[in-house]
Amino acid sequence: MTPAELVVLAKKRSESFRLEGFVPGQGKKTAKIMFVGEAPGETEIHNLIPFSGRAGDELMQFMEIAGLTREDVYITSAVRSRPYRYGEKKDRKTGEMIKRRYNRTPTQKEIYAQAPVLDFEIQAIQPKLIITLGNIGLRRLLGKEAGVSDLHGQLLVKPIQKLASLDENRFEWTETCYTIIPTFHPASIFYNRKLLPQIKADFEAIGSYVKEYLR
Ligand code: URA
Repeated sequence: MTPAELVVLAKKRSESFRLEGFVPGQGKKTAKIMFVGEAPGETEIHNLIPFSGRAGDELMQFMEIAGLTREDVYITSAVRSRPYRYGEKKDRKTGEMIKRRYNRTPTQKEIYAQAPVLDFEIQAIQPKLIITLGNIGLRRLLGKEAGVSDLHGQLLVKPIQKLASLDENRFEWTETCYTIIPTFHPASIFYNRKLLPQIKADFEAIGSYVKEYLR
């Protein structure tokens, strides 16, 4: 399947869900480092650049700690369309209630629906290091028992999950092992500032690993 066919497939598999747009992964096919986030938000589905909104600004600063720029890495996520829910907001000028779309966490079914895309990217790029951002990216690859609070900053060498078949919502483990360093999602500091020193320490560890093994 070509990447274009995969996008068509992922969109088709996502039709029944509240998902909008499709943001392609960003980076060179030769990138050694892959970041796996959760799902794009409103900013990203308009400009088609992963992590270009508020969380992206934080991510770029964290990447700087590790001596990395956007050009050095491949950036993708578990789900590539924006998961949304409807909510109401009062218009400041008219006082009228307006129905609008808000970001939300993707569901497991949505993660399965778009799994062929991430599976393909990992297969095509063969990253030497995968950095998962938050629990959604981490659990997509290492299973639902994994937790970012326990695993962040650790160097893991493990098989990862890939979709077992297109007809079944089930993951199976890859035969090959991948090197993974989990960290928190950069947006997590918006609601928990205390995570900041932990995230910075994780990116220092990422920087040391990159310097030693990937430069
Ligand atoms: N969060 C993600 O996981 N990906 C984006 O592109 C933006 C926010």
